[in-house]
Amino acid sequence: MERYIVKGGAPLVGEVGISGAKNAALPILAASILTDETVTIDNLPDVRDVNVLIDAIAELGANITRTGRHTVKINCSNITSICADNEYIKRMRASYYLLGSLLGKYKRAEVSIPGGCNLGTRAIDQHIKGFKLLGAKVGIDYGKIIAGAEELVGRHIFFDMVSVGATINIMLAATLAKGTTIMENVAKEPHIVDVANMLNSMGANIKGAGTDVIRIKGVEKLHGTEYSVIPDQIEAGTFMCAAAVTKGDILVKNVIPKHLEAITAKLYEIGCSVEEYDDAVRVIGLGKLNGTQIKTLVYPGFPTDMQPQMTVTLATAKGTSTVIESIFDNRFKYADELTRMGANIKVEGGNIAVVEGVETLKGAEVNALDLRAGAALVLAGLGADGYTIVDDIHYIQRGYEDFPQKLTKLGGNIAVVQNDRDIKKFKFKTA
Ligand code: UD1
Repeated sequence: MERYIVKGGAPLVGEVGISGAKNAALPILAASILTDETVTIDNLPDVRDVNVLIDAIAELGANITRTGRHTVKINCSNITSICADNEYIKRMRASYYLLGSLLGKYKRAEVSIPGGCNLGTRAIDQHIKGFKLLGAKVGIDYGKIIAGAEELVGRHIFFDMVSVGATINIMLAATLAKGTTIMENVAKEPHIVDVANMLNSMGANIKGAGTDVIRIKGVEKLHGTEYSVIPDQIEAGTFMCAAAVTKGDILVKNVIPKHLEAITAKLYEIGCSVEEYDDAVRVIGLGKLNGTQIKTLVYPGFPTDMQPQMTVTLATAKGTSTVIESIFDNRFKYADELTRMGANIKVEGGNIAVVEGVETLKGAEVNALDLRAGAALVLAGLGADGYTIVDDIHYIQRGYEDFPQKLTKLGGNIAVVQNDRDIKKFKFKTA
């Protein structure tokens, strides 16, 4: 079993290049199903979730060629199956995008009920409501969602709540529908705009992505395209917090600073120096930081996927901080792990954490309970005294490309270890 071992104490200093956004790459890969022509997708992050989805699309019968570590050519003209239920796809959340694409193109889809990180209830009722409004019948059978329609017809869809997944999924399904679909109360995250841009580059007619209302005029056919995925705002934010936690100085390169504004503003507010450039952000962790209040919100608010990393940053800040999680109902499970490292965190009612800043964190053996919590615990280890071992790193590998390598390049002491011998070797090397 692979684990990370981290020795804390070294400030992270230097430059780091950010990979493509996982949460944009996944629906963009699924969108390639909507055309019989070849789609070339570049700047894909080389992470487990993306690779699992590529394999799943290949299993449907698509012809996929990897022309580089971050580039694939996909041709879906020979798809022979509309059923995606392999063992790996079952465990990921974004498998639901295959529903929207297969339904949109073939008017039928069978996909395992989506898994993914356990952050509390993760309903998909809004996706199903949207598919039904477009004219599909949707049911569940033996752990699979089965959707089918004679034809899909554009409708007015008002979402009961803002959902990233539902917004994108209905966009995928409605692109080839008859007539116009108007979606209201939609999510506005940068990856929504990225997927709309990609679909438009294939000949779709989507307007309003990035606002509360998206209008889709259905087209008969989409054509091939070459598209490059936007940089990962959450990976960037994680390295920005790494600078704060380790009192380091990191130039985070290949980013769109506008997408990072909520994170930038908070880091500045707690006392970091933050400089913005055209496609880079530099964060300097200037000694003792101050506590603050944070509430996760839909974009452009503070992203829930940055909540654990920011809570770790606040664990050693001056005074009392409050972190309110308003998107998911159980996203503080990692607080117990952080408490093992000496943090003083009380979680009230499941979604409010009160953090009393402590002087320093102490290394411990902890579990990466989900993707972002796992990355946050690595940051905690890098800022702590002594050694930290992070178990279950497969969660982190779902969404961070070359995480230990990038941290090592910045001067962090981290390694992947398999057994006690590897741990001893690392301790000897870093003593
Ligand atoms: C996506 C991201 C995830 C991120 C989240 C919020 C992917 C693969 N995952 O997840 O990293 O944390 O956006 O930015 O892109 N909900 C419903 N009914 C629905 C849909 C959602 O009740 O039909 C609820 C969920 O239970 C959750 C909240 O809405 O409490 C947000 O969910 P949503 O925005 O859909 O997030 P995901 O697509 O699951």
